[in-house]
Amino acid sequence: MTSSAWNLGKPFGAPLHIGGVRLDGRAFLAPMAGVTDPGMRRVASRFGATLTVTEMIAADLYARGDAANRLKAEGAGAGFHVVQIAGRDPYVMAEAARLAQDSGALMIDINMGCPAKKVTSGYAGSHLMRDLGLAVSLIRTTVAAVRIPVTLKMRLGWDGQSLNAPELGRLAEAEGIAMLTVHGRTRCQFYSAKADWTAIGEVKKAVSIPVVANGDCASLADAAAILAQSGADAVMIGRSAIGRPWFVGDVAFYLAHGKARAETPPAKRKGAALEHYETLLELFGPLQGLRHARKHLAAYAERAGVVDGAALRQRLVRLECPSAVRSTLCQLYDSPSLTEAA
Ligand SMILES: Cc1cc2nc3c(=O)[nH]c(=O)nc-3n(C[C@H](O)[C@H](O)[C@H](O)COP(=O)(O)O)c2cc1C
Repeated sequence: MTSSAWNLGKPFGAPLHIGGVRLDGRAFLAPMAGVTDPGMRRVASRFGATLTVTEMIAADLYARGDAANRLKAEGAGAGFHVVQIAGRDPYVMAEAARLAQDSGALMIDINMGCPAKKVTSGYAGSHLMRDLGLAVSLIRTTVAAVRIPVTLKMRLGWDGQSLNAPELGRLAEAEGIAMLTVHGRTRCQFYSAKADWTAIGEVKKAVSIPVVANGDCASLADAAAILAQSGADAVMIGRSAIGRPWFVGDVAFYLAHGKARAETPPAKRKGAALEHYETLLELFGPLQGLRHARKHLAAYAERAGVVDGAALRQRLVRLECPSAVRSTLCQLYDSPSLTEAA
């Protein structure tokens, strides 16, 4: 186990410095393709997420002005807004980073962790952990292209025989990367087994820049444990924030103060879910917005913990009428089983 402020029993109250940027918190919303849309990032930020990362943006499409990718990179209201880019061409990555910076991104994150075959077969995402020469060249051109900090997200390595995250971390730091996020699995594990938090500590030991630990942080106790076991400086939360984007802010508060904040009351959760839904309708239009919202609506129903949650979930994912979705969301969070428990 490596040492960290948390190990010594002190909360992480001190700001975190990333390049020239100061962050007053230690819990980040992870990039998730098809999930961390502008609505989810806005809500997470409003409830205290220290920073929010867009889903992976295809650098080539974004640099060509593709509307869907521009929308994915939208950052209005998303708090400390980080755009994650993915690609394999150093010059295209640099162009995408410049565009994101000019559109308001406060940091750029490079994706070197995506395990999907369609990404790795195009020599992007976690494939770059197998081609450190190309990885360095992408980092170099991207860092040189922008004035804002550039960060990097990766896995432990391609597979159990090539755990080269510490080596990539050292190379990245030498090229000017300002912070590293490590998902404690290899590419070949995809999402199987449990994330190895101790192995993330090998990256922390290898570099001097801040390291963010990621993978399977589902509770406040997990947040303390992932930092204690990895020695990392901050935690990034993905799947556990789906259906409860306020959870990232709960973790930020807990890490800063060493105690849990009061639970978000049902009325505020209802407001958050409605705000998320309205943002999707506004950005994507009624039809596409509703379709996109369904996975979130299902997750809100699953996480609400109400007696009739399963039935409400079924209804929410089938409804075609926006106002019926609104009233069902209200019904979910106004449920007597929830308000009595609160
Ligand atoms: C649906 C989904 C989409 C994801 N998309 C991305 C992505 O676009 N970029 C990225 O770096 N990681 C992506 N990830 C990985 C997450 O950022 C995170 O590393 C992983 O889910 C482990 O963290 P968790 O256990 O907190 O979810 C995705 C994960 C999921 C489940």
